[in-house]
Order: sequence, then structure tokens, then C-alpha cells
Amino acid sequence: MSTPQAIHLSDYRPPAYRVTHTELTFELDPSATRVKARLHLERHPEREAGEALELDGEQLTLKSIALDGQVLGEDEYRLTEQGLRIESVPASFLLDTEVEISPEENTALEGLYRSGGMFCTQCEAEGFRRITFYPDRPDVMATFSTTVVGDAASLPVLLSNGNPVERGELPNGRHFVTWEDPHPKPCYLFALVAGDLNKVEDRFTTMSGRDVTLQIWVEEENLGKTDHAMASLKRAMRWDEETYGREYDLDLFMIVAVNDFNMGAMENKGLNIFNSAAVLTHPDTATDAAFQRVEGIVAHEYFHNWSGNRVTCRDWFQLSLKEGFTVFRDQSFSADVNSAPVKRIEDVSFFRTAQFAEDAGPTAHPVRPDHYIEIGNFYTLTIYEKGAEIVRMLRNLVGWEAFRRGSDLYFSRFDGQAVTIEDFVTCMAEASGQNLDQFMLWYSQAGTPEIDAHGEYDYARAEYRLILRQRTPATPGQSDKQALHIPVRLGLVGTKSGRDLALTLDGESLGRDAVIHLREDEQEFVFTDLAEAPVPSLARGFSAPVKLNFPYSREDLAFLLANDSDGFNRWDAGQRLALLALDDLIAAHRNGVEKVMDNRVVDAFRTLLTSDTDDKAVLAEMLTLPSEAYIAEQQPLVDVDAIHAARQFVKQSLAVTLRDEFLAVYQANLDDVSYAPEPDQIAARSLKNVALSYLMSIEDEEGVALTQRQFEAEHNMTDVRHALTLLTHSSRDDLADPALKAFGQKWAHDPLVMDQWFSIQVSRPQADALERVKFLMDHPAFSLTNPNKVRALIGAFAQNRVNFHRLDGEGYKLLADVVIKLNRLNPEIAARLITPLTRWARYDETRQELMKAELERIRAEDLSPNVYEVVEKALA
Ligand code: TRP
Ligand code: ZN
Repeated sequence: MSTPQAIHLSDYRPPAYRVTHTELTFELDPSATRVKARLHLERHPEREAGEALELDGEQLTLKSIALDGQVLGEDEYRLTEQGLRIESVPASFLLDTEVEISPEENTALEGLYRSGGMFCTQCEAEGFRRITFYPDRPDVMATFSTTVVGDAASLPVLLSNGNPVERGELPNGRHFVTWEDPHPKPCYLFALVAGDLNKVEDRFTTMSGRDVTLQIWVEEENLGKTDHAMASLKRAMRWDEETYGREYDLDLFMIVAVNDFNMGAMENKGLNIFNSAAVLTHPDTATDAAFQRVEGIVAHEYFHNWSGNRVTCRDWFQLSLKEGFTVFRDQSFSADVNSAPVKRIEDVSFFRTAQFAEDAGPTAHPVRPDHYIEIGNFYTLTIYEKGAEIVRMLRNLVGWEAFRRGSDLYFSRFDGQAVTIEDFVTCMAEASGQNLDQFMLWYSQAGTPEIDAHGEYDYARAEYRLILRQRTPATPGQSDKQALHIPVRLGLVGTKSGRDLALTLDGESLGRDAVIHLREDEQEFVFTDLAEAPVPSLARGFSAPVKLNFPYSREDLAFLLANDSDGFNRWDAGQRLALLALDDLIAAHRNGVEKVMDNRVVDAFRTLLTSDTDDKAVLAEMLTLPSEAYIAEQQPLVDVDAIHAARQFVKQSLAVTLRDEFLAVYQANLDDVSYAPEPDQIAARSLKNVALSYLMSIEDEEGVALTQRQFEAEHNMTDVRHALTLLTHSSRDDLADPALKAFGQKWAHDPLVMDQWFSIQVSRPQADALERVKFLMDHPAFSLTNPNKVRALIGAFAQNRVNFHRLDGEGYKLLADVVIKLNRLNPEIAARLITPLTRWARYDETRQELMKAELERIRAEDLSPNVYEVVEKALA
């Protein structure tokens, strides 16, 4: 393959020709599907006459082509690897093409492909060019009329976007359905599904009285797993009306579950396509986390109907325009319908672990990148999650009311258009009257800003001086960074009263919880009239996506853990306290000295365990130690074994000292009410299961017995899976093996449960994890062409820190072998899978060399653009 070239934001031009209406006919066949397209084209008013027509097209076999009804001769157009070019066309014309494609050979899962016996599509970002010749870019928006023709017996259900307007029988046992989508859309939102599917149906009446039919289409065996997704959809529809004033705009909304899917789900207009793992649930097969994930993703895709579909992106550099805003919307929804503090804690822990690592690695990029080789590589935590944090900062900067006015303005001004991130921020600036110029830097500057904070209390003057210094580390291609506008929400907690003190800054009274604005490299804030010395509680609620360093003593942290009025920062103080203790233990492990447990952590845990809290969900979070991945993120150089040993030591020390307290918590939260995925139950289960983790960590008789009993009770998947994980991750194969065997046999028929079975065993800390991966790759339930299986087995193993980073390099080698195979089969998944290897700079020299050697081995292959881009950055 030739060296892939980068595309630059600065080269953006509107398309020379746009499509106003698209008529498609699909004659479905596994190996030879025919696609007829009639495009209504016209010259773009901003482009000159006489320019050539260029259409994207990949892996298409052209069968016929005609312009305004005239068949074109071979000298009147040109076919390339990238598409089709016609040198001279009129200002407005019809183009008819017919192509042949092979869905069954499509293992990349982009374009039209087969999943089991069904046909389905994935067009974002650039899959439509594998279906027909087309200007495959989001700023070309057309109405679509789609006729799907297929075998009536094997494909009784034929779906596409919009409304079904005609259906009928055809000769040779075939039938057809014609769909019309009245809303102009870019082709990345096109969808088609055909198969032997069953539906679950419900209704929703919108705020203006439109009666909408809701359908979830699944294979027969999954009919009992749709209730939660349907309930979530209705909640999301109501929430978007009440919160953003957004109403659904068609008479039909469909969701389809497919087993082979590269990502979570896709917001195609009127026909959302979901990874079955992101929509199907049942108490016996899905955990609380899975129920919540389904709720969030169903909402996310639904919310895209406005933030993404009605108003879409001008070009793919603007991807965060729809994704950042929509993630922010789904996070707010989940916070509103579940435990808001826990949702924030979960989102932030994930963000600080995974996005910070991305921002510090060789693939770091701005939320609005300025160039890319393969846009498929940019569906990242930075675009999605950091994009959402930026929108959250905007909301907090301008306040909800102005934010809502800005959102209304954005949707009305740009309805039916493809726009930019500036367009969005401009609406917020207009609605609030605030200047957001400096704020825009958040979109163009990569890397995680660090704030070094220092404070000093002057008793005589009753003043607290807070000095904040910001700097953003260099990232690839960006060495000089400017000061950002960083909102820092804070409180000053009085050391005597334990209460938030009244804040007075420059003579202005700010209340007891306020936002200060850091805009310079360094700024000093002097709070006056403070009768007692405070401990500052900074960046409350994670008010900006930054690393905030403050020289807290362990006493300060224990104090905040007990007294901070902000639940999020109370949790964070506990995490910081645990991290300080872990630092000592990591050093002790490395130096071969005896590990000693910090009593302040034990005391803090005892207080938590014996306190009378009504928020069990938050308590469960407080009792959870920082993950190995998060601890690693805090270390200058990652020592996987020391981190594992230190964390295990803390866990076991706590379990030994506080055994009775953990036991009491476990027992107090045991119950056998029938399962419901609702907040109170989820909270009790997570608290109970955190306690069980501690009890089982010392593997005494009682801990083992409780875990086995919970496993055998088969009450619900949350409890069963947790118990199975504890048994499998214990040092006792006599506990692990029978449990795994029983579980594997019981669920052999259910692919989504088998995914969990794969993940649990390959993430065990025991030394045989890698051998298990190899063994399981031959298991009948495993398949390299199914992304869920690859994630469950290979992806999960790559998160198994002690085993993936084995010193013999076998973990890296295994990953590279799979990447090399997937490079051809599924480039999007292959490129994602490399991520852990790209982080080589964080490890010791031996591991660095081993990891780089595997990257070099991948680089020597004939690479897809996706893998090429990631490997080149990783080795740059
Ligand atoms: N737009 C989808 C979302 O809701 C993301 C997505 C789904 C996607 N499938 C994809 C992106 C395939 C790239 C390729 O976030
Ligand atoms: Zn999305």
C-alpha cells in the first residue's frame, strides 16, 4: 500500500457539488449485492462552474453509470482506488450508478456487512463509500428514499431510515420495502438492516402530541432482554423534552441489536443500530454496570437526534461538536435518573485514568484535531470525554439558564445544517454575553493542564493567600502552550468548625462555594475576613479536566474526607490519602523493606464503615481503592509488580484489621428482593460486594464460604459475576476452576455472558493468565472477527497489568500477533487494540525495548491506514 496522507482542517472547502436527494435500491445478496443509486446533484453556490465531480468509493465494482439518463462511455469518467471522477458536468444533474459489493467478505464492519444471518450497515465515519459512489462527507445533506429488496423467507424484515411508504411481493420469493426519510442527512447517518428479526413495540407521545411508535428489533432468543432498553428510551425521550425542550421528529423510532459491531452503538436517523452488548439486558445475564451502561448508551444515541443529526458536523475535525455535547447530555441524564454523585465519581475516575493517559501519550491530540490520517482513529476519550468536560465547563461558566438559551439558539439557528465548534460556542457567548475567546483554547490545545497550588493562612490578617500556577506539558506537534481559562470551584473548610467559610475576594462576597477563574500562568487570590485557618477544597466536582497538585498533609486529607461539604471532593480526599500510603508501600516494595500500613488510612476506613450514611452508593465508592491503572497514572515510572503488591497489601491489611466491620456491612446489605436495576438496590449491592472483596482478599474460611454461597445462590448476574471474579482471582485454583466450569457450561449458549466469562479469567493476577488467553482463543465461543470477543479476551488481557507486562515479553507478543491478524480483517479494531503498546515510555527500559520491538514488528507489515497512523505516532 502507498503511504497514507494526512488531511488538514485548514484545507477545508465546501464540496463542489452537493446532493439534494438520494434514491437507493438494494438487491441484497450475501456475496453480490447490487446497489443502484440515483443522486440529484447541483453545483455548490460558493464554488465555480466547470469543476470536476469527485465521488468517494471503495471496494465497489461499477456495473453501469449514466448522467441525466445518458450512459457514460469509459472515456467520460475515471475510476481510482479512492473513487470516481467525472471531468465535466452541468450545474444540476442526475447521476445513476449501479455497483456490486460483497457483504459477506466485509470483515471490517464498515459499510454493508453480514452479522450472523442478517445484513446491516455502519456508515460513520466513512463507511458509505463502501456502499455506493457518493460525496462521503458530513456537509452534504440529502433526503433519502431507499428500497430494500431481499429474499422473503430468510429476510422477512427490511429496515431503513425514516418511514416505510411501500412494500410488496416480487418474483422468485423476493419482497421489498421502500423507506423515505424526509429529514436531510449526511450519508454517515444512513442505515439498512435486513434479517429474520422480531420486534418489541411500545409508544411514546411527545410533548406536542405526536404519537411515536418505538421498536426494538432482536433475534428471537433475545426477546426477553429488551425491557430495560425500552424503559431507558422512554425516560431519555421525556428527559430531553423537559431538560432541553427537544422533541422527536418522526413517527417511528427503531433500535436494532447486532452481534458484530465495532463500537457501542450508532445514531442513524430513525434506525439506531446497537452492539447487542449495549442494548440487551436481563437480571440473570447482565450486571448493574451493564444495565446502567445500556441506559446511558440508549440515551446517548437518542440525544444525537438533535445534537448530531438535526445539527451535524461540517467536517470530521468537528467530531466533538456532536460527541462532546452528546456525552455531556447523556452524563447529565444518567446523573438525574441515578445517583448523581456516584455518576460523577465513576466518570471522573475513568477520565483521570484513561483520558489523562491518552493526553500524556504519543497519540495525544486536541479535542478539535487539526489533522488526521484516518478519522476512525479519532473516536477517542479526548474527543468524547474531554469534549464533554469542556461542555460541562461552559455550562458552569455561563450558568444553566444561559446555557439552555444558548442551546436553543444553536438548535434553531443551525437546524438542518452542518456546522463547526465555533458555531456552538458562539451561541453560548451570545446567550450569556460572556467572552469565550480564551476558552476556545481548550479545543485546540492538547495535553492535560497541571495546576500547582499553594496556600498560606495569615492569622494576624485573617487572610488566606492561594497561589495557582498552570502549565500544560508539550504534546506531539505542540511544544508551546498558552494559559487556558480554567474555572476552579472551591471552598475553604475551617479547621475548627469543619464548615465551609464565607469567601470574600477583593472585597466581594462570594458565598461559601465559589468559582475562581485562572486565566494567567500564575495568579494569586487573597481571601479575607477568615476567622479560622482553612484547608482548601479545590476543583470541587472536578470543575476542570486538569491535574491539581496541592501539598496536602495526610491530616489535611483525613480532615477533608470527614468534613468536606462537596461529596466529590470528600471521595477525592480519600483517594489522595490512599495514594500517599500506596506511594510509601510501592517504595518499600521496590527497596525490599517491610511494608507498614498507614494507620490514618485504617482509621479513615473504620470511620467510614461505622458511620451512619444514607448514601450507600457513595460509601461504596469511598471504600474502593484507586485502581492499579490509576495508581500507575500517578507514578513517574510504572512498576506494575510493585503497584499490584502495594495495593494488595493495603487491601489485605484493611481486611485483617476491619474484618468485623466489613462483615457487618456485608450482612447488613444482603437481601433477596427480586432484582431491579434501581438506585437503592444498586447501591446496596455495590456496598455489599465491595465488602466481600475485602473479606475474600485474605481468603479465610468465612470469606471463601460467603463468596461461594453468593456464587451458588445465582440471585442475579451482578452478585454472581462478582463472586466468580473473586474466586477466579484468588490464589486457589480449587475455587476458581469448578466455578468457571459451572458458569461456562451454564451460559455456553449466551454470547454476551461468555464474553464476561472470557474477561474474568484472563484478567486474573495468577501467572497462567496468558496461557489461558492462548487456550481460549481456540474456544468455540471465541472468534477473531467478532469485536466483542476480541475485546473480552484480548482487550481484557491487555488490561491485566501484571500479566500483560510479563518480563519475558510474551504478553506484548501475543497482542502484536492479534493486531497483525486484525490489521487486514478489521483495521478499526486492530488500531484500537494497539493502545497499551503505545504507552511504552511509561515503563522501565527492559519493557520499553520489548514493547517497541513489537511495534516495529507490526510496522514491518503491509498496514491499513488505521494501524499505520497509530504505529507511526507510537514510534515517532
Ligand atoms: N457515533 C457513534 C456514537 O454514538 C460512534 C460510532 C458507532 C462509530 N459506530 C462507529 C464511530 C463506527 C466510528 C466507527 O458515538
Ligand atoms: Zn455519539
